[in-house]
Amino acid sequence: MTISSPTLADQTRVDFPMFSNHSLENQKLIYLDHAATSQKPYKVIEALKHYYSNDNANVHRGAHQLSARATDGFEQARQITAEFINAETPREIVFTRNATEAINLVARSWGEAELKEKDEILITLMEHHSNFVPWQLLAQRTGCIIRHISITSSGELDLEDLREKLNSRTRLLSLVHISNTLGCCNDIAEITQLAHNVGSLVLVDACQSLAHQPIDVKKLKIDFLAGSSHKLCGPTGIGFLWAREKLLEEMPPFLCGGEMIQDVFLDHSTWAELPHKFEAGTPAIGEAIAMGTALNYLKSIGLKNIQSWEKTLTKHLFEKLESIDGLQILGPNPEQQPSRGALATFTVQGIHADDIAALLDTNGICIRSGHHCCQPLHRHLGLNSTARASLSFTSTIDEIDQFSEELVSTISFLKKHI
Ligand code: ALA
Repeated sequence: MTISSPTLADQTRVDFPMFSNHSLENQKLIYLDHAATSQKPYKVIEALKHYYSNDNANVHRGAHQLSARATDGFEQARQITAEFINAETPREIVFTRNATEAINLVARSWGEAELKEKDEILITLMEHHSNFVPWQLLAQRTGCIIRHISITSSGELDLEDLREKLNSRTRLLSLVHISNTLGCCNDIAEITQLAHNVGSLVLVDACQSLAHQPIDVKKLKIDFLAGSSHKLCGPTGIGFLWAREKLLEEMPPFLCGGEMIQDVFLDHSTWAELPHKFEAGTPAIGEAIAMGTALNYLKSIGLKNIQSWEKTLTKHLFEKLESIDGLQILGPNPEQQPSRGALATFTVQGIHADDIAALLDTNGICIRSGHHCCQPLHRHLGLNSTARASLSFTSTIDEIDQFSEELVSTISFLKKHI
């Protein structure tokens, strides 16, 4: 494959200590597990260090300068997050521990206040467990019904099934933007329109898309969006829920304690303004600030540039994997769905995915194996384990070539020894 250089990877890999300093017992690191967590650039690590070394204080509490500095940094991060997804106002950004907590917040707060027996929630078969379990518990508490939208034979969302299942009892459609396993990219603009036509709200789990393409919550007409910093070159322990201001205003608090109150009396309390109503206790201050740095970093590279380079990489990854005997890739290929995610999940006939991942690891190649927190999808496909290579803008053609060469040797070795 001829690629004009310098590529986006050539330009950005120097920003990441893991790519320049790292050796795995003297092997070169080939990190193809970006969907599980992204690597962190120096800037983000520096932002965390800077906060803890220079500005460490609690937010929204102290009269002193340090607290004011910490509060400014924290609230700036909210502003950056709002701009990143084109939210109307930073009041619509609630910091959470991760995307899982953001979905739980909607289920506990909006779900318990709004849903009653026989109301319906639609989710898809390709959801991560974090978009199954909160609704299952909500159904136990409220008597609402969860319905599942199927997938097509090519591993895309079955829009016919979605159209059939949407009805006047549907209150929420909660779905992933890009599947962490199938890699398919769901057409959110079309889906929100279908859902809104029957009066249903739409929650989008954007964990696998936010770092890979521009997302505009207003254009897509989403109602709730969950995001996670560690998939966005930011630190772990911080994520966010975005929701339209009106929805957040109407929702009751989720976690309760300090910071989310206006006044506390002996027998009752009143709530703080948005978004603090949903942020009980001392938040992950340095982590939020560093997430802001990460989002600015991604913005400086350009989400469109990222998307375009990752398309080239994904096409190459598919070409390489498709040429391997007995290897089957899940989900649509880049020709069927050009907007698909930059990852490939696969099985190899007669070989367990864990064995593939473990052997590749001995050569410094990191991929994920298992059910990828998508047991219902794997069960539906009759699989218990798959292997997944996932890319980022820092990935190179050379990494993909080395991975596929090693994969061929691994498969041939395992075939001889099992
Ligand atoms: N959801 C993450 C993954 O797909 C952890 O690996």
